[in-house]
Amino acid sequence: MTMRVVIAGSSGLIGSALRRSYELDGHTVTRLVRRETQSPHEIRWNPGSERLSSAALDGADVVVNLAGASIGQRWTANHRRAILLSRTTTARTLAEAIAGTTRPPRVFLSASGIRFYGVDRGDELLTESSAGAQDGFMPKVAHAWEAATRESTVPVCHLRLGLVLSQHGGLLARMLPIFRAGLGISPGSGHPFWSFLSLTDAVRAIRFLATHPQAQGPYNLTAPNPVRSRECVDALSAAVGARTTLPIPVPVLRLVMGEVAAEAIGSLRVVPNRLAEAGFTHRHPDIASSVRDALT
Ligand SMILES: NC(=O)c1ccc[n+]([C@@H]2O[C@H](COP(=O)([O-])OP(=O)(O)OC[C@H]3O[C@@H](n4cnc5c(N)ncnc54)[C@H](OP(=O)(O)O)[C@@H]3O)[C@@H](O)[C@H]2O)c1
Repeated sequence: MTMRVVIAGSSGLIGSALRRSYELDGHTVTRLVRRETQSPHEIRWNPGSERLSSAALDGADVVVNLAGASIGQRWTANHRRAILLSRTTTARTLAEAIAGTTRPPRVFLSASGIRFYGVDRGDELLTESSAGAQDGFMPKVAHAWEAATRESTVPVCHLRLGLVLSQHGGLLARMLPIFRAGLGISPGSGHPFWSFLSLTDAVRAIRFLATHPQAQGPYNLTAPNPVRSRECVDALSAAVGARTTLPIPVPVLRLVMGEVAAEAIGSLRVVPNRLAEAGFTHRHPDIASSVRDALT
C-alpha cells in the first residue's frame, strides 16, 4: 500500500536518507521546509513563529519530526537556545497541527536522543524502562523535546536515537578525514560506552515503527550491542587502515570543542529492548558491520 509520509528536517542526515528510502519504494513524501518551496511535494513552515495549518498533515499516514539545530558546534548561549527551541517548537507545532486534522495520521514519530538517560551512566544497562536523568544540557533538552509532543491526539513514538554512523554526517564524518590520513584518534579514556546505530538501521527502524500497529511511547534506536568508545575507534581504524591511535584527553577536547565534549563522550550503554520486543531485527547489530555500512 502506498503511504503518504510527512517529514520535518528532511534535508538532514537521517531525514534525507528516510525520504530517499520511502521515495525509492514508491511512497509519497511531503517535506516541511523552512525556505521557499521548490516542488508540489514541499510545504513551507515556520516553526516557532507560526502555527502550521492542519491541512498540511491531513490524510498523512505518518508524520516524522527529524528537525533540530546542529549540536556539533560551540554551545554559546545563543546556540543553546537554538538547540532547545528548534526541537521543542517543531515538536509542539506538529503536535498541535495533528490535533486539528480531520483525517489524522496513525502515528507521530518524533526524534529524541539517548541523552534522555543523562550525561554518564557508566556501565549500567539502559532500556526504555530505565529512569531518565537531567544532569546536563542535552538531557534537559531531550526531556523538554519529548514533553513538547503532549498536545498530539494520535500515538507518539519518541525515537531515542543513539550515535548514527555515516560518512555523510554526524561525529563519524568529522573524524573520518583524520582516520583516512592514517591517524586514529580516541576521545577521552576510550572506556565509556557508545551506543551507536547504522544509518541504514535508523531508517529501517523508523519505517518499522511507522507501520507497526501498536507502536507508541519511547523506543531506543541503537544497535543491540553497544561497545566502549575504544572499540568504535578500533573498528574505524581497521576499516580505513589507520595505523596509530592517539588518545585525546578530555581537557584538550573541552578546549577545542567546548562543553559539548564532556556531554558527548559520557558513557551510555543503551539497548533497544522495545524494538526487539516489537519484532525488529537489526541489519547491523555490531560495530564492525555498522562501520562498514557507514563507509559504503
Ligand atoms: N545523527 C545522530 O547521531 C543523532 C543522534 C541523536 C539524536 N539525533 C537527532 O535526530 C534529529 C535528526 O538528526 P540528523 O543527524 O538527521 O540531524 P541533521 O543532519 O543536523 O538535520 C537536522 C535538520 O533539522 C533542520 N533544522 C536545522 N536547524 C533548524 C532550526 N533552527 N529549526 C528547525 N529545524 C532546523 C534542518 O532541516 P530543514 O532545513 O529541512 O528544515 C536539518 O537538516 C536531530 O534532531 C538530532 O538531534 C541525531
